[in-house]
Amino acid sequence: MANDNTTLPRSNLARLWKRLRESLRVQLLVWIILPLIGVICVNLLLSFQSADTTADLINDQMLLASARTIAEAVMVDANGTIQVDIPPAALEMFDTGHGDRVFYRVITAWGSLVSGVADLPETKKDQSAEDLNFRGDPVRVMTLNHPVVGLAKDAEISVSVAVTLNNEKAMRQRLWLSDFTKQLLLVLVTGFVAIVGLQRGLAPVLRLRDAVREQGREKLDPFSPENVQSELRPLVHALNDYMERVQSQMAAQRRFVANAAHQLRTPLTLVATQASVAAREQDSNSRNEALQALRTSTQQLTRLASQLLTLSRAEPGSRRPRHDKIDLAAAARQVLETFTETALQRQIDLGLDVDEPCRVEGDGPMLSEMIVNLVDNALRYTLPGGTVTVSVSRHGAWVLLRVEDNGPGIPDQEKEQVLERFYRIIGTQAEGSGLGLAIVKEVVERAGGTVALTTPVSGGLNVEVKLPAA
Ligand SMILES: Nc1ncnc2c1ncn2[C@@H]1O[C@H](COP(=O)(O)OP(=O)(O)O)[C@@H](O)[C@H]1O
Ligand SMILES: [Mg+2]
Repeated sequence: MANDNTTLPRSNLARLWKRLRESLRVQLLVWIILPLIGVICVNLLLSFQSADTTADLINDQMLLASARTIAEAVMVDANGTIQVDIPPAALEMFDTGHGDRVFYRVITAWGSLVSGVADLPETKKDQSAEDLNFRGDPVRVMTLNHPVVGLAKDAEISVSVAVTLNNEKAMRQRLWLSDFTKQLLLVLVTGFVAIVGLQRGLAPVLRLRDAVREQGREKLDPFSPENVQSELRPLVHALNDYMERVQSQMAAQRRFVANAAHQLRTPLTLVATQASVAAREQDSNSRNEALQALRTSTQQLTRLASQLLTLSRAEPGSRRPRHDKIDLAAAARQVLETFTETALQRQIDLGLDVDEPCRVEGDGPMLSEMIVNLVDNALRYTLPGGTVTVSVSRHGAWVLLRVEDNGPGIPDQEKEQVLERFYRIIGTQAEGSGLGLAIVKEVVERAGGTVALTTPVSGGLNVEVKLPAA
């Protein structure tokens, strides 16, 4: 029980995962959304960098403006002392409400402090800002060297202004956040449009699915290809073709069952009649005759039933395809041995003409059954005193099996029809079902070969079976 509890959710999850992976909608969505997310990640990184640069730039400009304002306020008084009256604006511009602290330092070229904090570091280069540490806090520092009116030309003063980074950080965040919001909105809109588009695009496919599901079992009407996108039309056409094939196969099957029932009913009625005749017969001789007739009819019925069975086995899909490699010459010899007795009784000269092994690939028992049917026909329809010759030979990539007789033959216009099921030439005296040649055709075609009926010069029938050599 405990085992059940642990495996059940996992198998459910696995099934859900499989369904998601196999879903067209999910696949399409993933292929749209994933690259989009990738693009947006790269974009966010770039916009993060650009926000950084912009914030730095603005801050540096402010620092430079502040340093310049201070430098311009430096003066040399009448005694030659350098003095500065720091203008409030120079420091107030950093009062952005983020609690930043500002430091400044004004020193002379020879290193004496004019104003500000003495230990404030300066940058290495003139007019360029640097990120440094001052009194434990990270600061941005700008140093400006500036000439002072009244001092020698090369005796400049150096003004450094430093500010803590709160405002810069806030600025960077604001810039980045506004970019992020825009991009998020873009993803949402794109995702929404993608889902709506998918839904609309897939609608005809789903309609087709519903239409396929809805059709009743016996209804196989073709679907209209107009309702789906042009890419899917070949699929609809293929589906329609497929249904047409199924329909014609079903029709053939129905015809076959009806024919078979009909063929069985006639001899069965005969058997019933013969049985009641035999039962009524008082005289033992007559009764024996009637029973003999009954036995003959039953034998015919058995033969018909076994032909039906063979035919159904020869049909594609009725049993697992076999790929035996058999020697057709040896198979023909074996079949002919079983017919020697019959040939003798019917006074027919039955001959075999093979000179080498002729290998073919296919269903061994069925190929033998095919030869049986051809020899059986030849012996059955050829008059006493006739000749039947079976030959097997190799011709390049093909093996040729020929069954030739000098019987009545088959008129040209019926050579096609006799290969059909239940077709018998009108006036045929010998009993039969009309299934023999249909079995031959089915077996040969399944083995990749062809059957041809021709009339030899001397009259009679020549059945030629061509099979690919193995
Ligand atoms: N060797 C042959 N010579 C003359 N007619 C033949 C020969 N083989 C077949 N046929 C004709 O073709 C028909 C169909 O043959 P088949 O399919 O074997 O059925 P069945 O032998 O049971 O009648 C036969 O009824 C017969 O009229
Ligand atoms: Mg036959």
